[in-house]
Amino acid sequence: MSIRFDNRVAIVTGAGGGLGRAYALELARRGAKVVVNDLGGARDGTGHSDAALKVVEEIREAGGEAMSNGGSVTEYEQMEAMVAQAKEKWGGVHILINNAGVLRDKSFAKMAPEDFEFVVDVHLNGSANCTKAVWETMREQNYGRILMTASSTGLFGNFGQANYGAAKLGLAGLTKTLYLEGAKYNIKVNTLAPVAGTRMTEDIFPEAAFKLFTPESVAPAALYLVSEDAPSNAIVGAGAGVFQAAYVTLTPGVRLQGDELTPEGVADHWGEITDRTGEIVPQSGGEQAQTIFAKLQDG
Ligand code: NAI
Repeated sequence: MSIRFDNRVAIVTGAGGGLGRAYALELARRGAKVVVNDLGGARDGTGHSDAALKVVEEIREAGGEAMSNGGSVTEYEQMEAMVAQAKEKWGGVHILINNAGVLRDKSFAKMAPEDFEFVVDVHLNGSANCTKAVWETMREQNYGRILMTASSTGLFGNFGQANYGAAKLGLAGLTKTLYLEGAKYNIKVNTLAPVAGTRMTEDIFPEAAFKLFTPESVAPAALYLVSEDAPSNAIVGAGAGVFQAAYVTLTPGVRLQGDELTPEGVADHWGEITDRTGEIVPQSGGEQAQTIFAKLQDG
């Protein structure tokens, strides 16, 4: 069955280039009306350009419907205005792909506090701003599909990207609570960790990898995760046509009592505490407490 987005209105932030552009083009090709948001700045977030407008032109030339938006995800009022404009023109907003991003890489030792704050502001607060701006509309519509863009750095770490990694894992965390709050309203929220050759990775990707790691080979995951039958609360990795799932798991662990309820007891049982046999994937924070109660009852 083909996945279509007819009569759906989608906002893709940071869609003036790279991955966001690929998502916007494919959504439009499959029938969505697309708001192409992009501030059009440089990779470090400075400056402006009409990047969004160019993608809108591409979509229109291919017969699709799109509008451009040059607002910054860091400005809540601008995101509210963007949503209002989309609703006025097309009657709703059904899909939000939080994709806008910047880099200010440096080892933590050399990273200025402002560079930490700025990167967290664009990725984490920016995604929260856009999501907040569409949230009420999606609740009222009883329909919403939201995708957060994380990164392998956030999930697993990367030297020189403390600011970026903190923001990116924060986005997986945002997904985990919003999927719970949105469930009743048919709002599904997922996280994507892409790997693609874009200007963001041009320094680290060898030339040959650019041919394999195309934004177009990530787009199928993004589109599935915002489609009608999307799952919710998934963390998906995608690059060069390879698709994976990542999980936050919890081991069964051990209960320590008496003389063992000490740092030495933790040290002595470290092997059992970290033994992954029988680990679970909790679907909410409360499940951790439940597993603790279960262990207490076991004696
Ligand atoms: P990109 O630099 O081509 O795209 C990011 C876009 O966001 C740019 O067009 C930029 O102008 C826009 N943007 C930046 N600040 C903005 C703001 N305040 N408001 C609105 N737009 C803003 O890079 P790429 O690779 O396409 O990145 C897309 C997303 O994927 C980012 O969130 C990035 O962190 C993430 N990502 C990319 C990976 C890769 O391998 N390319 C790996 C992991 C994550």
